[in-house]
Amino acid sequence: MNQLKTGEAPEAAHGSLDLQEELAEVLRQRAAISAVLRAIASSPHDLQPIFDTILDNAVHLCRSEGGLCRLTEEIGFRLVAYKRCPGASDVPLPPKLLEYGSFLGRLVGSRSPVHIPDLATHHELSSAGEAEREYVSNSAARTTLIVPMLRNDELIGTLGLARRRIEPFTEKEIELVTDFAAQATIALDITRRERELRELQIELARANRIATIEQLSSSIAHEVIQPIATARNNARAGLRFLELSPPNLSEAREAFDGVVAEADRAGDIIRRIRDHIKKAPPKMDRFDVNEAIRNAIILTRGEVVKIGASIQAELAEPLPFIRGDRVQIQQVIVNLIVNAVQAMSGDGHNRRELQISTETDEAEGVRVGVRDTGPGLAPESVPRLFEPFYTTKAEGMGVGLAICRSIVEAHGGRLWATACEPHGTLFQFTIPAEQDATS
Ligand SMILES: Nc1ncnc2c1ncn2[C@@H]1O[C@H](COP(=O)(O)OP(=O)(O)O)[C@@H](O)[C@H]1O
Ligand SMILES: [Mg+2]
Repeated sequence: MNQLKTGEAPEAAHGSLDLQEELAEVLRQRAAISAVLRAIASSPHDLQPIFDTILDNAVHLCRSEGGLCRLTEEIGFRLVAYKRCPGASDVPLPPKLLEYGSFLGRLVGSRSPVHIPDLATHHELSSAGEAEREYVSNSAARTTLIVPMLRNDELIGTLGLARRRIEPFTEKEIELVTDFAAQATIALDITRRERELRELQIELARANRIATIEQLSSSIAHEVIQPIATARNNARAGLRFLELSPPNLSEAREAFDGVVAEADRAGDIIRRIRDHIKKAPPKMDRFDVNEAIRNAIILTRGEVVKIGASIQAELAEPLPFIRGDRVQIQQVIVNLIVNAVQAMSGDGHNRRELQISTETDEAEGVRVGVRDTGPGLAPESVPRLFEPFYTTKAEGMGVGLAICRSIVEAHGGRLWATACEPHGTLFQFTIPAEQDATS
């Protein structure tokens, strides 16, 4: 009994020490993640301070000296934050991009932590290319730990941590920083998504502005007709004063002065439109139409849900890239979706289904289709659909399709509508593909 008791006491003391250590670790981890959350809260527009904070805290948490953070991109891992080991000012900067196929790309692309006690003698280094081996041998890192940043099993980035001397990470340290990476990834991901949404909203505002400019120029064109008509009346009056015998020269002069003034007014209006349009040169991005469609679907989700409709997207992958103004093409798709929704909302009997499709068209490049199950086109509408100010809606402006057609044609494509069986309408447009470009 006694023996047992004396045996128990040191063990209990030991246990409480373990517990204390564990508690200290939990607290450190919590402090690290709150530092990241604070960085997110105080930097709503810029991700850089967030990347830096994540890296700093990871380095600190597992007692490493330097490190770097990379995020996955189309072709590889992009460097987004770098913390140099103290006293290693002479080592070269790490490569900005690690391609997926490269030795280092494969190394950091692991879904579980990779612990390399000594990078210099790492046996797999022999499979690296010359440049990569040189970078490793010049870097200040000896003991290295690479932890994945996973979002639902998808690798979105990686944290690399380094010690200058050979000093392997303990299992606890690895666990600590892996947990931290997982939490930081969630926080970062939410921030990124929120930011993307905000960018979309800004784009939508811009697209609306473009639409407004187009509406404005149509109405200004209307305005120009008026001075021209007045000038014509003045000219006729002037002629009549000249035809009198004797001609009434002073009245004729006054009438012709009026012609000059009205012509100047028309000229001013046209100059104003031209200046306005010049300020917005067309953008020529290279982009993926499928992406523009996904954005347009996000932007119109509210309208679609409101009428209880469903959207089905059948997007061909891969689809050739096109070149042009992404926001304008997005606006075309938004307009077609909104028209489809409005058409279906008036029809109480049919199922409300919207189908958006893309395909590669051998002759014409990329073809986009927006099909609805609405009542279809009224026969008298068909020849007038694309006319500016043609509308059958009480609240309609009638400029949507006219703008869509002018945007599509400015991109070298065409836009047309066909009736669907048993009901509904299909709007389709094409845009020429970029040569040799697949998304
Ligand atoms: N999906 C559709 N189904 C039936 N009619 C449509 C559809 N899309 C457009 N239309 C017809 O074309 C007209 C012009 O459309 P639009 O130029 O976008 O102007 P608005 O939507 O302001 O009426 C609409 O008023 C409607 O009569
Ligand atoms: Mg419309």
